[in-house]
Amino acid sequence: MNSYGINKNVFQLTYRSRAAEGLTTSQIMEIVDEAVGFNNPHDITGCLVFDQGFFIQLLEGEKAIVEQLYTKIKKDKRHFQFEILSKGWTSERQFKSWDMGYISMEDYALGEKAELVSKARKALDTISTKNDFTPKVFWYNIYTLLTASKFYKNL
Ligand SMILES: Cc1cc2nc3c(=O)[nH]c(=O)nc-3n(C[C@H](O)[C@H](O)[C@H](O)COP(=O)(O)O)c2cc1C
Repeated sequence: MNSYGINKNVFQLTYRSRAAEGLTTSQIMEIVDEAVGFNNPHDITGCLVFDQGFFIQLLEGEKAIVEQLYTKIKKDKRHFQFEILSKGWTSERQFKSWDMGYISMEDYALGEKAELVSKARKALDTISTKNDFTPKVFWYNIYTLLTASKFYKNL
């Protein structure tokens, strides 16, 4: 229990990175398969978004496992410029039933991209910074990547 009377027992971490030069869709699908294979039995949920060569991922679960996992992911040669955006505790998961949801804007039709933008917008409007700072940062980066890509291109 913390001082707000909320039991924050889920650890979350969000990062962004850039896909290695020439990474193909089928190689990304291999990553997702590996992710689901590990995350499911380890009670890790989250979402991996890929657009314009950038990955943004939210990982959530037990702290020791999330930290062990990101240390491994960070060293993966299939991406670089790994940068943690936020980490911290929450009382509720963002992706309760997703072992590792994967959204690739490259494969998506325009309408679906608009849908994700609106989902991100809604999440930004409703998520409380006090209780869910890390998911807020996650959605903020998704929103920025999808709508203001020049900012991301200049990184
Ligand atoms: C962008 C990205 C996201 C990844 N996400 C996960 C993940 O959520 N869970 C996971 O187990 N592996 C993930 N991986 C793969 C790991 O880096 C690692 O290759 C995989 O877990 C197999 O590791 P091992 O066989 O050496 O234990 C990700 C890799 C990349 C490049």
